[in-house]
Amino acid sequence: MCGIVGYIGDKRAADFLLEGLTKLEYRGYDSAGIAVNCGENIFVEKSVGRLDSLKDKLKYRMPGGVIGIGHTRWATHGRPSDINAHPHTDCNKNFVVVHNGIIENYMPLKEELISRGHKFISETDTEVVPHLLEEVYRGDFVEAVREVLNKLEGSYSLVFMSKENPDTLICAKQDNPLVIGLGKGENFIASDIPAIINYTRQTYILNDGEIAIVKKDSVKIINRRGEPVDKKIFHVSWNAEAAEKGGYEHFMLKEINEQPKAVRDTMSKRISKDGTKILLDELNWDKDFLAGIDKIYIVACGTAYHAGLVGKFYIEKLARKLVEVDLASEYRYRNPIVDEKTLVIVISQSGETSDTLAALKESKRLGAKTLAITNVVGSSIAREAEQVIHTWAGPEIAVASTKAYTTQLILVFMLALYMAQINGTVSEQRARELIGLLKKIPAQISETLSDVEPIKTFARQYGFNEDVFYIGRSLDYCVALEGALKLKEISYIHAEAYASGELKHGTLALIVEGVPVIALATQKSVYEKTLSNIKEVKARDAVVIGIAAEGDTELEKYLDHVIFIPDTDELLIPLLTVVPLQLLAYYAAITRGCDVDKPRNLAKSVTVE
Ligand code: M6R
Repeated sequence: MCGIVGYIGDKRAADFLLEGLTKLEYRGYDSAGIAVNCGENIFVEKSVGRLDSLKDKLKYRMPGGVIGIGHTRWATHGRPSDINAHPHTDCNKNFVVVHNGIIENYMPLKEELISRGHKFISETDTEVVPHLLEEVYRGDFVEAVREVLNKLEGSYSLVFMSKENPDTLICAKQDNPLVIGLGKGENFIASDIPAIINYTRQTYILNDGEIAIVKKDSVKIINRRGEPVDKKIFHVSWNAEAAEKGGYEHFMLKEINEQPKAVRDTMSKRISKDGTKILLDELNWDKDFLAGIDKIYIVACGTAYHAGLVGKFYIEKLARKLVEVDLASEYRYRNPIVDEKTLVIVISQSGETSDTLAALKESKRLGAKTLAITNVVGSSIAREAEQVIHTWAGPEIAVASTKAYTTQLILVFMLALYMAQINGTVSEQRARELIGLLKKIPAQISETLSDVEPIKTFARQYGFNEDVFYIGRSLDYCVALEGALKLKEISYIHAEAYASGELKHGTLALIVEGVPVIALATQKSVYEKTLSNIKEVKARDAVVIGIAAEGDTELEKYLDHVIFIPDTDELLIPLLTVVPLQLLAYYAAITRGCDVDKPRNLAKSVTVE
């Protein structure tokens, strides 16, 4: 998730590029850069850190050219640095490229290019693109770009600039957004509408596989075969604030809806082509490494801690290793039993949570092996841990964590299966079955997101209750905890999650007529027990909303309301059950008029103890 801009016209390109990037900084902010075609040469300036440091560098040397491209980065391949920042160039600085997404086959392409004498300077996947262009260019810019695109696997939005072709920018889209703003005697390119909305509302929104040849007075769209595409102009009617949120009312809702893509991005490249193996190239573990681990701790805070609870289930069930899950703020002060045979896994979206970072440092001091699961490349936690695997969720802006949670679940699941495959604690057939079902999850999340009306209705009906209970067993209990946290933090409703079997040990005293109870009943191995707990609650006249897998015909017999989610293996179903709970919290907060993205007393990144 990065931000892209491009300009071609009669004005100084750098002015638009910097303004556009400012509007897109929420999409990525670890480094930024611009390139401007100045005729004699292509001027490139880049800077690690916030956009302001790039602006500082440009203060007294703004390039005067009228065609340029820019980028604000959210690191994926390669840590945040001046060199890894975009734009990237070929050996002779004739071609410049900015990119959003992941070039999956960049390693073999890079090796081939190096063997043919190309010099690489960055750690990024993107840098292969200008070098490829340099290789195939024989005077026809468009043809060369088409040839390059045919060599790329993965997801991208790309903008290409060429020194020799000062009247043309070319851009291409595959799985990442790209929009062209149509001006008078000038045209704009951006990954998101906010960058261009102050300049024009007439746009072309590119579809996958489309290539746009953008000149100052014309825009021609072609497909990958070079055939012209008849494109309709899209008039943007949103205001600037709504545009930043992609047309959604809040970042939280946008991020909930981004989950299919975030989950797909996180798992893609980490499954073998034949669908039989989990590939975590970042780790390179083997049997000896795992034999040297007798205990695993997962340490995290808040939502990441809840992902850790699910991770414990996965690792114990699939890889048969003992796992303790701990809150970072507790772990670091209780002298945990940790030594060199302990693996400590920390999970953190931001990679900056101070309790988690301190727990990580304490684990290292005690001699543990350490692994971080984080969303932010180059974050403090990513740098401190010995090993890192990244979720590819893109920036999460809303305080309430949503897409970070589902991508964390994906990674703890893949890690568990990866360990099980090394250890031989999962059969080939079961692994293939689980991987097959894993690949279906993005589409199933989309399906879950497509029917929000009943959830809105429940939120309106129960949004003014002061207490809500969430119950479930096994993995349903872990998800119940996350559902309750979401409701608490954004709607300020008192919400508690209980393991259903625990109700009778105290909490049942609170269940009286009319109290809303959200009952998760998706775990087949404990289904009968779950059902009898639900009946206990119903018998106290609670209002029970069930969450069940499609095909469940039992629950409806006892409950007035059931939300159905697509069915999958019970290990994977938390990825789906959490979605209606996120939406319920969101719409309850809306019903109560709460500030969804910035709930009271909370911050996105908790860098204090
Ligand atoms: O950035 P982290 O994942 O380390 O953050 C941990 C918690 O602060 C975070 O998950 C918090 O609980 C969220 N507001 C939950 O939505």
